[in-house]
Amino acid sequence: MRIDIITVLPELLESPFQHSILKRAQNKGVVEIHLHPLRDYSTNKHRTVDDYSYGGGAGMVMCIEPIAKCIDKLKSERTYDEIIYMSPDGEMLDQKISNQLSTLKNIIILCGHYKGVDERIREHLITREISIGNYVLSGGELAAAVVCDSIIRLLPGVLNDETSALFDSFQDGMIAPPAYTRPADFNGWKVPDVLLSGNEKEIDKWRHEQSLERTKQRRPELL
Ligand code: ADE
Repeated sequence: MRIDIITVLPELLESPFQHSILKRAQNKGVVEIHLHPLRDYSTNKHRTVDDYSYGGGAGMVMCIEPIAKCIDKLKSERTYDEIIYMSPDGEMLDQKISNQLSTLKNIIILCGHYKGVDERIREHLITREISIGNYVLSGGELAAAVVCDSIIRLLPGVLNDETSALFDSFQDGMIAPPAYTRPADFNGWKVPDVLLSGNEKEIDKWRHEQSLERTKQRRPELL
């Protein structure tokens, strides 16, 4: 999979991709991440990429030209399955959307800033708009990192058996059961006996019941 991210703050996105699972995925050649500094596509010598809003009002709007120039260049090099705009008014990210996106070959993610982008970009260039929650971030970069993380860990070969995404919360419509590790007794706080029993069938049954109970209690809307 290849992910092209268009951003005014490439520095903000460097670190998330340089560690742990996301780094390993790139080293293994499972995913390529390309950051495109939007200012490189500015049409003026001050490298600005925003302008005042028509009709007045506070806040700058990201201009069409640099974004269109960058997207056109990328599209001339390969075909993209989706061109995603990160926006608080997009469809809400969930496991289903991440699963779907993880099956695609090439995607572009555009990070918004200021008062957003010129509406014509959304009308003519963007194929999908995604929000990571009902709150407003200073820009789309952190949201883009969240989307990428949730997609990349699903790609074949990224996780091993132990960390398999199949056992993630939400993957089967339920949240994960509680997990414990050594010591079995910490100052009287004990690990449930069943987990120490070695009886795999009983352990699976217990975990399933716990998942169901937790989902009912904490996230009944998932059921
Ligand atoms: N940009 C600003 N806030 C956002 C959000 N909640 N989700 C996605 N992109 C955003």
